[in-house]
Amino acid sequence: MSIRKLLACVRCLAVAGLVLILAGAAYVYLGLYPIGADTPHNAATYWLLESVRERSVARAASGIAVPGDLDASARLLAGGADYNDMCAGCHLEPGVKESDFTLGLYPAPPNLAEAHDVHGDPETRDQRRFWIIKHGIKASGMPAWGPGHDDERIWNMVAFLKRLPDLTPQQYQIVTARKDSAAH
Ligand code: HEC
Repeated sequence: MSIRKLLACVRCLAVAGLVLILAGAAYVYLGLYPIGADTPHNAATYWLLESVRERSVARAASGIAVPGDLDASARLLAGGADYNDMCAGCHLEPGVKESDFTLGLYPAPPNLAEAHDVHGDPETRDQRRFWIIKHGIKASGMPAWGPGHDDERIWNMVAFLKRLPDLTPQQYQIVTARKDSAAH
């Protein structure tokens, strides 16, 4: 390729890039993107946001050490009461299929009372859950619980989440009942 052809090609690409940037800026400034929570993202935005979330969480959570006693029943009981107080409104409980939050939030909070989490092996899943509970997820309804709760308390909820899909509504009531009034 001659130098002149190469320069023409570079110029052409630069103009195309500029046009794309201007079109993108116009799209944003004219307010054309539907931001309401009741309109789903288009496929490209959805893919982008989901990829950003999953790649970011996977990277940040990969080194976290999972406690060896995660299956201890003391953790299950402590985590259950916290889950019921702080999480069940969004993430539901056995026998409850929807709430105003699952109907109205976008992205919708997943139903954690149903076994749906397919994120790799159990250790990866527990690391991922711990990280998400502690740090939350930007621009979604999922708050960071780390600022108000220590790691032990968050691990207790991770322990509870492992058992939650196996509980009947009656077992859920028993396991999540608060035994001490001072904890919250
Ligand atoms: C106000 C609603 C709300 C509350 C309260 C809430 N969450 Fe969430 N949570 C969400 C939303 C929305 C998502 C999904 C975020 C996304 O997809 O980007 C989420 C995601 C998660 C996930 C990742 C699920 C997965 O498999 O991808 C976990 C685990 C989780 N929340 C645990 C909790 C726990 C534990 C609590 C209570 C301490 C809690 N959440 C409280 C809204 C909430």
